Amino acid sequence: MLLNLAAERRVLFLGGKGGVGKTTVASALALHAAREGRRALVVSTDPAHNLGHLWDQKVGDRLTRLGDGAGGRLSGIEIDPDASTDQHLKDVARTLRKLMPENLAGEVDKHMELSRRSPGTHEAAVLERMTELVETGMDRFDLVVFDTAPSGHTARLMALPELMTAWTDGLLARREKSQKLGAAMRGLDGDRGKAVLGSSAPRDPVEERDEEIRSILLRRRDRLAGLREVLTDRARTSFAIVLAAERLPVLETIALHEELTRTGVDVGGLVVNKRSPADRGDFLARRHAVEEEHLGTLRTALPEVPLQQIPLKEEDVVGPAALERFARKL
Ligand SMILES: Nc1ncnc2c1ncn2[C@@H]1O[C@H](COP(=O)(O)OP(=O)(O)O)[C@@H](O)[C@H]1O
Ligand SMILES: [Mg+2]
Repeated sequence: MLLNLAAERRVLFLGGKGGVGKTTVASALALHAAREGRRALVVSTDPAHNLGHLWDQKVGDRLTRLGDGAGGRLSGIEIDPDASTDQHLKDVARTLRKLMPENLAGEVDKHMELSRRSPGTHEAAVLERMTELVETGMDRFDLVVFDTAPSGHTARLMALPELMTAWTDGLLARREKSQKLGAAMRGLDGDRGKAVLGSSAPRDPVEERDEEIRSILLRRRDRLAGLREVLTDRARTSFAIVLAAERLPVLETIALHEELTRTGVDVGGLVVNKRSPADRGDFLARRHAVEEEHLGTLRTALPEVPLQQIPLKEEDVVGPAALERFARKL
């Protein structure tokens, strides 16, 4: 199921609780794709990155070759939320400074410093990087695998482009309204207004600033709409939920599936990782039976979503050789 899902799509998201195996499965899928000749990129958006640990190498916030690079086709990146926030705030501050009178530059800086700690800034910054990486990823790679942060965080992030597009649209509509009002007011101002509007006199600086704000908002809106389009295009994009066959992860998976589906994201697979063997002694056999019960709940709740099980390995999956073995068994 997983290999098919990855073969058919350009963008794959892996989500689920911490420790279930998101990074392991994401890495194995990208490795497999790269061995098959596709250019593959793993993007970790989990602030608790472990892509580097798993590959036993340094990764960090720039495209890095993973393992032997599979003939230059396999790269990874760990989005650094602090660096992304810095960059995001720098961009916003530059724009604001351009739009504000010079004597207010100090105020802009103060405001930006406060923004760093305000709710949402962090998410907006990670979303910005995600948008960028989806764009670059679709351009330079055949498969982009997102190794995401634990469930709640990711579900919100997936819904954000829609919310923010709506927010930007609202802002644009309000600006338009107030601009019309402004123009009407200037019209009331008698001949002066008409003279300015009708002549080739230099443009009103307020009008020019408004135009610039509008174009910035429109650009932002278009990029977010682009991201949303990719996220909700089932032909290109799918989301696989990784979980352990335990009670809480199963309940959380059902909730995450509902949330993602409501957002318009296709959930293409459930990956039940670390299944206990049934034939290695009584203890594990009983464990296996308990897991079967939980899987029963999952299958009843989501009968239409393909499900793949991965056995618990004796070894830790660490380093390129172990990942290679893990990938071959998918
Ligand atoms: N099927 C498996 N059998 C044994 N260990 C596994 C298996 N899948 C993952 N692991 C190990 O579990 C730990 C957590 O996996 P990881 O992929 O880092 O989880 P996540 O990214 O979801 O937090 C790692 O040490 C990994 O090597
Ligand atoms: Mg991880």
